[in-house]
Amino acid sequence: MILVTGGAGFIGGNFVLDWLGNPKNDGVINLDALTYAGNLSTLKEVEQDPRYQFIQGDIAERHQVQDIFQKYQPTAVINFAAESHVDRSITGPGAFIQTNIVGTFNLLDCAKSYWSQLDPDKKSAFRFLHVSTDEVYGTLGPKDPPFKETNPYEPNSPYSASKAASDHLVRAWFHTYDFPVLTTNCSNNYGPYHFPEKLIPLCILNALNGKSLPIYGDGQQVRDWLFVKDHCAAIRTVLEKGKLGETYNIGGWNEKANIDVVKQICAILDELRPKEDGHSYAEQITFVTDRPGHDRRYAIDASKIERDLGWRPIETFESGIKKTVQWYLENPEWVEGVTSGKYREWIANQYQQS
Ligand code: NAD
Ligand code: DAU
Repeated sequence: MILVTGGAGFIGGNFVLDWLGNPKNDGVINLDALTYAGNLSTLKEVEQDPRYQFIQGDIAERHQVQDIFQKYQPTAVINFAAESHVDRSITGPGAFIQTNIVGTFNLLDCAKSYWSQLDPDKKSAFRFLHVSTDEVYGTLGPKDPPFKETNPYEPNSPYSASKAASDHLVRAWFHTYDFPVLTTNCSNNYGPYHFPEKLIPLCILNALNGKSLPIYGDGQQVRDWLFVKDHCAAIRTVLEKGKLGETYNIGGWNEKANIDVVKQICAILDELRPKEDGHSYAEQITFVTDRPGHDRRYAIDASKIERDLGWRPIETFESGIKKTVQWYLENPEWVEGVTSGKYREWIANQYQQS
Protein backbone atom coordinates (compact mmCIF):
# COMPACT_ATOMS: atom_id res chain seq x y z
CA MET A 1 0.00 0.00 0.00
CA ILE A 2 1.03 3.59 -0.57
CA LEU A 3 -0.32 6.38 1.64
CA VAL A 4 -1.59 9.39 -0.29
CA THR A 5 -2.61 12.47 1.70
CA GLY A 6 -4.97 15.03 0.19
CA GLY A 7 -6.17 12.48 -2.37
CA ALA A 8 -9.65 14.04 -2.54
CA GLY A 9 -8.20 17.32 -3.87
CA PHE A 10 -7.40 18.31 -7.42
CA ILE A 11 -3.92 16.85 -7.99
CA GLY A 12 -4.16 14.10 -5.35
CA GLY A 13 -7.49 12.95 -6.85
CA ASN A 14 -6.04 12.80 -10.35
CA PHE A 15 -3.03 10.96 -8.94
CA VAL A 16 -5.17 8.29 -7.21
CA LEU A 17 -7.29 7.77 -10.35
CA ASP A 18 -4.20 7.39 -12.55
CA TRP A 19 -2.39 5.17 -10.05
CA LEU A 20 -5.30 2.76 -9.65
CA GLY A 21 -5.89 2.92 -13.42
CA ASN A 22 -2.82 0.71 -13.66
CA PRO A 23 -3.88 -2.80 -12.54
CA LYS A 24 -0.26 -3.65 -11.64
CA ASN A 25 -0.01 -0.93 -9.00
CA ASP A 26 -0.26 -1.42 -5.22
CA GLY A 27 -3.23 -0.26 -3.20
CA VAL A 28 -3.80 3.30 -2.01
CA ILE A 29 -4.83 4.63 1.37
CA ASN A 30 -6.21 8.11 0.87
CA LEU A 31 -6.03 10.23 4.04
CA ASP A 32 -7.94 13.47 3.49
CA ALA A 33 -9.58 15.90 5.91
CA LEU A 34 -12.28 16.78 3.34
CA THR A 35 -11.92 20.52 3.70
CA TYR A 36 -13.90 22.70 1.27
CA ALA A 37 -11.35 21.60 -1.39
CA GLY A 38 -11.75 17.85 -0.88
CA ASN A 39 -14.41 16.11 -2.96
CA LEU A 40 -15.08 12.40 -2.83
CA SER A 41 -17.12 12.67 -6.03
CA THR A 42 -13.76 12.93 -7.85
CA LEU A 43 -13.01 9.36 -6.73
CA LYS A 44 -16.33 7.71 -7.61
CA GLU A 45 -14.81 5.38 -10.19
CA VAL A 46 -12.37 3.83 -7.67
CA GLU A 47 -14.69 3.66 -4.64
CA GLN A 48 -15.36 -0.05 -5.23
CA ASP A 49 -11.77 -0.95 -6.11
CA PRO A 50 -10.55 -3.39 -3.41
CA ARG A 51 -7.13 -1.71 -3.59
CA TYR A 52 -8.61 1.64 -2.48
CA GLN A 53 -9.22 2.75 1.11
CA PHE A 54 -10.44 6.23 2.09
CA ILE A 55 -9.85 7.59 5.60
CA GLN A 56 -11.17 10.98 6.66
CA GLY A 57 -8.58 12.64 8.88
CA ASP A 58 -6.11 15.43 9.43
CA ILE A 59 -2.38 15.02 8.71
CA ALA A 60 -1.74 17.09 11.84
CA GLU A 61 -3.59 14.60 14.08
CA ARG A 62 -0.83 12.54 15.71
CA HIS A 63 -2.68 9.50 17.01
CA GLN A 64 -4.69 8.94 13.87
CA VAL A 65 -1.63 9.23 11.61
CA GLN A 66 0.40 6.89 13.87
CA ASP A 67 -2.44 4.33 13.79
CA ILE A 68 -2.59 4.48 10.00
CA PHE A 69 1.14 3.70 9.72
CA GLN A 70 0.85 0.79 12.15
CA LYS A 71 -2.28 -0.68 10.59
CA TYR A 72 -1.50 -0.32 6.87
CA GLN A 73 2.33 -0.46 6.86
CA PRO A 74 2.67 1.74 3.75
CA THR A 75 5.70 1.42 1.49
CA ALA A 76 5.60 5.12 0.57
CA VAL A 77 3.90 8.40 1.47
CA ILE A 78 2.95 11.02 -1.10
CA ASN A 79 2.00 14.23 0.64
CA PHE A 80 -0.46 16.32 -1.39
CA ALA A 81 -2.49 17.50 1.62
CA ALA A 82 -2.34 21.27 1.90
CA GLU A 83 -4.22 24.50 1.89
CA SER A 84 -3.45 25.52 -1.69
CA HIS A 85 -5.21 28.76 -2.67
CA VAL A 86 -3.09 31.95 -2.51
CA ASP A 87 -6.12 34.27 -2.18
CA ARG A 88 -7.40 32.31 0.82
CA SER A 89 -3.93 32.49 2.40
CA ILE A 90 -4.17 36.29 2.23
CA THR A 91 -7.54 36.48 3.96
CA GLY A 92 -6.93 33.58 6.41
CA PRO A 93 -3.31 32.45 6.80
CA GLY A 94 -3.85 30.42 9.99
CA ALA A 95 -5.11 27.29 8.25
CA PHE A 96 -2.05 27.38 5.97
CA ILE A 97 0.34 27.44 8.92
CA GLN A 98 -1.58 24.62 10.60
CA THR A 99 -1.86 22.20 7.69
CA ASN A 100 1.14 23.05 5.54
CA ILE A 101 3.67 23.44 8.35
CA VAL A 102 2.34 21.72 11.49
CA GLY A 103 0.62 19.01 9.43
CA THR A 104 3.71 18.26 7.35
CA PHE A 105 5.82 18.16 10.52
CA ASN A 106 3.43 15.65 12.12
CA LEU A 107 3.28 13.46 9.03
CA LEU A 108 7.07 13.48 8.72
CA ASP A 109 7.58 12.68 12.37
CA CYS A 110 5.06 9.81 12.41
CA ALA A 111 6.48 8.46 9.14
CA LYS A 112 10.02 8.60 10.53
CA SER A 113 9.06 6.73 13.73
CA TYR A 114 7.37 4.02 11.66
CA TRP A 115 10.25 3.83 9.13
CA SER A 116 12.92 3.57 11.84
CA GLN A 117 11.39 0.29 13.04
CA LEU A 118 11.12 -1.38 9.64
CA ASP A 119 13.34 -4.31 8.73
CA PRO A 120 16.34 -3.36 6.53
CA ASP A 121 14.78 -4.26 3.14
CA LYS A 122 11.56 -2.38 3.79
CA LYS A 123 13.49 0.48 5.33
CA SER A 124 15.65 0.99 2.27
CA ALA A 125 12.64 0.76 -0.09
CA PHE A 126 10.53 3.32 1.84
CA ARG A 127 9.98 6.80 0.34
CA PHE A 128 8.39 10.05 1.57
CA LEU A 129 7.56 12.24 -1.41
CA HIS A 130 6.57 15.81 -0.60
CA VAL A 131 4.59 17.65 -3.28
CA SER A 132 5.48 21.33 -3.37
CA THR A 133 5.27 24.37 -5.57
CA ASP A 134 7.36 26.71 -7.71
CA GLU A 135 5.98 29.62 -5.65
CA VAL A 136 8.63 28.99 -2.98
CA TYR A 137 11.18 30.62 -5.32
CA GLY A 138 9.35 33.96 -5.35
CA THR A 139 8.86 36.01 -8.48
CA LEU A 140 10.83 36.50 -11.72
CA GLY A 141 11.48 39.56 -13.88
CA PRO A 142 10.57 39.31 -17.57
CA LYS A 143 14.11 38.39 -18.66
CA ASP A 144 15.16 36.22 -15.70
CA PRO A 145 15.95 32.57 -16.43
CA PRO A 146 13.36 30.06 -15.19
CA PHE A 147 13.62 28.69 -11.64
CA LYS A 148 16.24 25.97 -11.13
CA GLU A 149 16.42 23.72 -8.06
CA THR A 150 19.35 25.86 -6.90
CA ASN A 151 17.38 29.13 -6.83
CA PRO A 152 17.10 30.64 -3.34
CA TYR A 153 13.76 30.39 -1.58
CA GLU A 154 12.01 33.79 -1.61
CA PRO A 155 8.32 33.11 -0.87
CA ASN A 156 6.01 36.13 -1.02
CA SER A 157 2.56 34.98 0.09
CA PRO A 158 1.42 33.26 3.29
CA TYR A 159 0.73 30.21 1.09
CA SER A 160 4.18 30.06 -0.48
CA ALA A 161 5.87 30.86 2.86
CA SER A 162 4.05 27.92 4.46
CA LYS A 163 5.02 25.60 1.60
CA ALA A 164 8.64 26.83 1.81
CA ALA A 165 8.65 26.03 5.54
CA SER A 166 7.32 22.54 4.84
CA ASP A 167 10.04 21.97 2.21
CA HIS A 168 12.68 22.96 4.76
CA LEU A 169 11.29 20.50 7.30
CA VAL A 170 11.42 17.71 4.71
CA ARG A 171 15.01 18.63 3.84
CA ALA A 172 15.98 18.66 7.53
CA TRP A 173 14.52 15.20 8.13
CA PHE A 174 16.79 13.87 5.37
CA HIS A 175 19.96 15.58 6.57
CA THR A 176 19.41 14.97 10.28
CA TYR A 177 17.81 11.52 10.35
CA ASP A 178 18.68 10.04 6.91
CA PHE A 179 14.93 9.82 6.42
CA PRO A 180 14.34 8.93 2.71
CA VAL A 181 12.64 12.00 1.26
CA LEU A 182 12.04 13.40 -2.21
CA THR A 183 10.61 16.86 -2.94
CA THR A 184 8.94 18.06 -6.13
CA ASN A 185 8.34 21.75 -6.92
CA CYS A 186 5.77 22.09 -9.66
CA SER A 187 4.31 24.96 -11.65
CA ASN A 188 0.59 25.76 -12.10
CA ASN A 189 -1.53 22.71 -12.84
CA TYR A 190 -4.80 22.62 -14.77
CA GLY A 191 -7.14 19.84 -15.90
CA PRO A 192 -10.16 17.81 -14.75
CA TYR A 193 -11.48 18.09 -11.17
CA HIS A 194 -9.84 21.49 -10.58
CA PHE A 195 -11.74 23.35 -7.86
CA PRO A 196 -13.39 26.41 -9.43
CA GLU A 197 -11.80 29.00 -7.16
CA LYS A 198 -8.64 28.85 -9.32
CA LEU A 199 -8.28 30.94 -12.49
CA ILE A 200 -8.90 28.34 -15.22
CA PRO A 201 -11.97 26.48 -13.88
CA LEU A 202 -13.38 29.73 -12.45
CA CYS A 203 -13.27 31.37 -15.87
CA ILE A 204 -14.69 28.33 -17.72
CA LEU A 205 -17.68 28.16 -15.36
CA ASN A 206 -18.22 31.93 -15.08
CA ALA A 207 -18.19 32.16 -18.87
CA LEU A 208 -20.85 29.45 -19.19
CA ASN A 209 -22.96 31.08 -16.46
CA GLY A 210 -22.86 34.52 -18.12
CA LYS A 211 -20.75 36.00 -15.30
CA SER A 212 -17.72 38.26 -15.55
CA LEU A 213 -14.24 36.75 -15.98
CA PRO A 214 -12.20 38.54 -13.29
CA ILE A 215 -8.63 39.36 -14.33
CA TYR A 216 -6.48 40.69 -11.49
CA GLY A 217 -4.54 43.90 -12.24
CA ASP A 218 -3.38 44.20 -15.84
CA GLY A 219 -3.56 40.44 -16.56
CA GLN A 220 0.10 40.37 -17.65
CA GLN A 221 1.23 38.09 -14.80
CA VAL A 222 2.84 34.98 -16.22
CA ARG A 223 2.34 31.40 -15.04
CA ASP A 224 3.92 28.20 -16.42
CA TRP A 225 1.05 25.75 -16.99
CA LEU A 226 1.24 21.96 -16.75
CA PHE A 227 -1.57 19.50 -17.45
CA VAL A 228 -2.32 17.68 -14.18
CA LYS A 229 -1.82 14.19 -15.63
CA ASP A 230 1.70 15.16 -16.70
CA HIS A 231 2.35 16.25 -13.11
CA CYS A 232 1.05 12.89 -11.83
CA ALA A 233 3.36 11.05 -14.24
CA ALA A 234 6.28 13.15 -13.02
CA ILE A 235 5.50 12.26 -9.40
CA ARG A 236 5.38 8.55 -10.25
CA THR A 237 8.74 8.93 -12.01
CA VAL A 238 10.34 10.70 -9.03
CA LEU A 239 8.90 8.08 -6.66
CA GLU A 240 10.40 5.29 -8.73
CA LYS A 241 13.73 6.77 -9.80
CA GLY A 242 14.38 9.95 -7.79
CA LYS A 243 17.60 10.28 -5.81
CA LEU A 244 16.99 10.51 -2.07
CA GLY A 245 17.23 13.97 -0.59
CA GLU A 246 16.95 15.63 -4.01
CA THR A 247 14.40 18.16 -5.19
CA TYR A 248 12.97 18.11 -8.72
CA ASN A 249 11.37 21.05 -10.50
CA ILE A 250 8.41 20.07 -12.67
CA GLY A 251 6.92 22.31 -15.34
CA GLY A 252 5.40 22.35 -18.78
CA TRP A 253 7.56 24.95 -20.57
CA ASN A 254 4.25 26.76 -21.13
CA GLU A 255 4.61 30.35 -19.97
CA LYS A 256 1.41 32.32 -20.57
CA ALA A 257 0.08 35.68 -19.43
CA ASN A 258 -3.21 35.34 -17.53
CA ILE A 259 -5.11 37.45 -20.04
CA ASP A 260 -3.98 35.17 -22.88
CA VAL A 261 -5.06 32.06 -20.96
CA VAL A 262 -8.51 33.51 -20.42
CA LYS A 263 -8.82 34.63 -24.05
CA GLN A 264 -7.86 31.12 -25.16
CA ILE A 265 -10.55 29.59 -22.92
CA CYS A 266 -13.09 32.00 -24.46
CA ALA A 267 -12.03 31.05 -27.99
CA ILE A 268 -12.46 27.32 -27.22
CA LEU A 269 -15.88 27.94 -25.68
CA ASP A 270 -16.88 30.06 -28.70
CA GLU A 271 -16.09 27.01 -30.83
CA LEU A 272 -17.51 24.23 -28.62
CA ARG A 273 -20.50 26.01 -27.04
CA PRO A 274 -21.21 29.16 -29.12
CA LYS A 275 -23.46 31.73 -27.46
CA GLU A 276 -26.94 32.03 -28.92
CA ASP A 277 -26.53 35.79 -29.45
CA GLY A 278 -23.37 35.21 -31.53
CA HIS A 279 -21.20 37.24 -29.14
CA SER A 280 -17.83 35.99 -27.87
CA TYR A 281 -17.32 34.92 -24.27
CA ALA A 282 -14.31 37.28 -24.31
CA GLU A 283 -16.76 40.17 -23.89
CA GLN A 284 -17.26 38.94 -20.29
CA ILE A 285 -13.60 39.68 -19.38
CA THR A 286 -13.38 42.28 -16.58
CA PHE A 287 -10.23 43.75 -15.02
CA VAL A 288 -10.53 43.80 -11.22
CA THR A 289 -8.44 44.87 -8.21
CA ASP A 290 -5.08 43.09 -8.12
CA ARG A 291 -4.12 40.39 -5.59
CA PRO A 292 -1.96 41.94 -2.80
CA GLY A 293 1.72 41.03 -3.30
CA HIS A 294 0.87 39.36 -6.62
CA ASP A 295 3.94 37.54 -8.01
CA ARG A 296 4.58 38.76 -11.54
CA ARG A 297 6.08 35.73 -13.22
CA TYR A 298 6.79 32.06 -12.51
CA ALA A 299 8.69 29.79 -14.89
CA ILE A 300 10.20 26.37 -14.28
CA ASP A 301 13.41 24.96 -15.68
CA ALA A 302 12.50 21.27 -15.76
CA SER A 303 15.77 20.11 -17.32
CA LYS A 304 16.95 18.20 -14.21
CA ILE A 305 13.98 15.79 -14.11
CA GLU A 306 14.11 15.45 -17.89
CA ARG A 307 17.83 14.73 -17.98
CA ASP A 308 18.21 12.60 -14.83
CA LEU A 309 14.89 10.74 -14.75
CA GLY A 310 13.67 10.86 -18.36
CA TRP A 311 10.28 12.53 -17.66
CA ARG A 312 8.75 14.94 -20.20
CA PRO A 313 5.25 16.42 -20.38
CA ILE A 314 2.96 14.93 -23.03
CA GLU A 315 0.36 17.69 -23.39
CA THR A 316 0.98 21.06 -24.98
CA PHE A 317 -1.02 23.92 -23.47
CA GLU A 318 -3.22 23.93 -26.58
CA SER A 319 -4.13 20.21 -26.31
CA GLY A 320 -4.45 20.27 -22.51
CA ILE A 321 -6.65 23.35 -22.26
CA LYS A 322 -9.02 22.01 -24.92
CA LYS A 323 -9.36 18.70 -23.03
CA THR A 324 -9.96 20.67 -19.84
CA VAL A 325 -12.73 22.86 -21.28
CA GLN A 326 -14.33 19.77 -22.81
CA TRP A 327 -14.19 17.99 -19.45
CA TYR A 328 -16.06 20.83 -17.70
CA LEU A 329 -18.69 20.84 -20.45
CA GLU A 330 -19.20 17.10 -20.02
CA ASN A 331 -19.23 17.00 -16.20
CA PRO A 332 -21.88 19.40 -14.90
CA GLU A 333 -22.79 16.99 -12.04
CA TRP A 334 -19.29 17.20 -10.56
CA VAL A 335 -19.39 20.98 -10.82
CA GLU A 336 -22.82 21.13 -9.22
CA GLY A 337 -21.60 18.92 -6.36
CA VAL A 338 -18.59 21.07 -5.47
CA THR A 339 -20.13 24.52 -5.84
CA SER A 340 -21.98 24.36 -2.55
CA GLY A 341 -23.19 27.20 -0.33
CA LYS A 342 -19.70 27.64 1.16
CA TYR A 343 -18.20 28.00 -2.32
CA ARG A 344 -20.77 30.63 -3.23
CA GLU A 345 -19.99 32.53 -0.01
CA TRP A 346 -16.26 32.59 -0.87
CA ILE A 347 -16.89 33.86 -4.41
CA ALA A 348 -19.29 36.55 -3.16
CA ASN A 349 -16.78 37.82 -0.57
CA GLN A 350 -13.68 37.57 -2.74
CA TYR A 351 -15.07 39.47 -5.72
CA GLN A 352 -17.48 41.88 -3.95
CA GLN A 353 -15.35 45.03 -4.37
CA SER A 354 -14.26 44.31 -7.93
P1 NAD B 1 -6.37 21.15 -3.34
O1 NAD B 1 -6.63 22.35 -2.51
O2 NAD B 1 -7.22 20.93 -4.54
O3 NAD B 1 -6.49 19.83 -2.44
C1 NAD B 1 -5.94 19.73 -1.17
C2 NAD B 1 -6.52 18.49 -0.50
O4 NAD B 1 -5.91 18.36 0.78
C3 NAD B 1 -8.02 18.54 -0.29
O5 NAD B 1 -8.62 17.32 -0.63
C4 NAD B 1 -8.16 18.80 1.22
O6 NAD B 1 -9.34 18.25 1.77
C5 NAD B 1 -6.92 18.10 1.74
N1 NAD B 1 -6.48 18.64 3.04
C6 NAD B 1 -6.35 19.94 3.39
N2 NAD B 1 -5.93 20.03 4.66
C7 NAD B 1 -5.74 18.76 5.10
C8 NAD B 1 -5.29 18.20 6.33
N3 NAD B 1 -4.94 18.97 7.37
N4 NAD B 1 -5.21 16.85 6.43
C9 NAD B 1 -5.58 16.06 5.40
N5 NAD B 1 -6.03 16.54 4.23
C10 NAD B 1 -6.10 17.87 4.08
O7 NAD B 1 -4.85 21.22 -3.72
P2 NAD B 1 -4.12 20.78 -5.07
O8 NAD B 1 -4.21 21.87 -6.05
O9 NAD B 1 -4.59 19.42 -5.43
O10 NAD B 1 -2.61 20.72 -4.56
C11 NAD B 1 -2.09 19.53 -4.00
C12 NAD B 1 -0.66 19.78 -3.56
O11 NAD B 1 0.11 20.19 -4.69
C13 NAD B 1 -0.51 20.90 -2.54
O12 NAD B 1 0.48 20.53 -1.63
C14 NAD B 1 -0.07 22.11 -3.36
O13 NAD B 1 0.71 22.97 -2.57
C15 NAD B 1 0.75 21.43 -4.43
N6 NAD B 1 0.81 22.13 -5.73
C16 NAD B 1 -0.32 22.54 -6.36
C17 NAD B 1 -0.24 23.14 -7.63
C18 NAD B 1 -1.47 23.59 -8.36
O14 NAD B 1 -1.32 24.24 -9.43
N7 NAD B 1 -2.67 23.28 -7.93
C19 NAD B 1 1.02 23.31 -8.23
C20 NAD B 1 2.16 22.87 -7.54
C21 NAD B 1 2.05 22.28 -6.30
O1 DAU C 1 2.51 27.95 -9.21
C1 DAU C 1 1.93 26.88 -8.55
C2 DAU C 1 0.72 27.34 -7.78
O2 DAU C 1 -0.31 27.58 -8.74
C3 DAU C 1 0.25 26.35 -6.73
O3 DAU C 1 1.25 26.17 -5.78
C4 DAU C 1 -1.05 26.83 -6.08
O4 DAU C 1 -1.53 25.86 -5.18
C5 DAU C 1 -2.08 27.06 -7.17
O5 DAU C 1 -3.26 27.57 -6.62
C6 DAU C 1 -1.53 28.02 -8.23
O6 DAU C 1 -1.37 29.35 -7.67
P1 DAU C 1 -1.79 30.66 -8.47
O7 DAU C 1 -2.03 31.75 -7.51
O8 DAU C 1 -0.84 30.92 -9.59
O9 DAU C 1 -3.18 30.12 -9.13
P2 DAU C 1 -4.57 30.85 -9.36
O10 DAU C 1 -5.37 29.96 -10.27
O11 DAU C 1 -5.20 31.31 -8.10
O12 DAU C 1 -4.15 32.14 -10.19
C7 DAU C 1 -3.48 32.03 -11.44
C8 DAU C 1 -3.17 33.44 -11.91
O13 DAU C 1 -4.42 34.08 -12.24
C9 DAU C 1 -2.55 34.31 -10.84
O14 DAU C 1 -1.62 35.20 -11.46
C10 DAU C 1 -3.71 35.10 -10.25
C11 DAU C 1 -4.63 35.25 -11.44
N1 DAU C 1 -6.08 35.29 -11.12
C12 DAU C 1 -6.60 34.33 -10.29
C13 DAU C 1 -7.95 34.34 -9.98
C14 DAU C 1 -8.51 33.30 -9.04
C15 DAU C 1 -6.89 36.24 -11.70
O15 DAU C 1 -6.42 37.09 -12.49
N2 DAU C 1 -8.22 36.25 -11.39
C16 DAU C 1 -8.78 35.35 -10.53
O16 DAU C 1 -10.01 35.43 -10.27
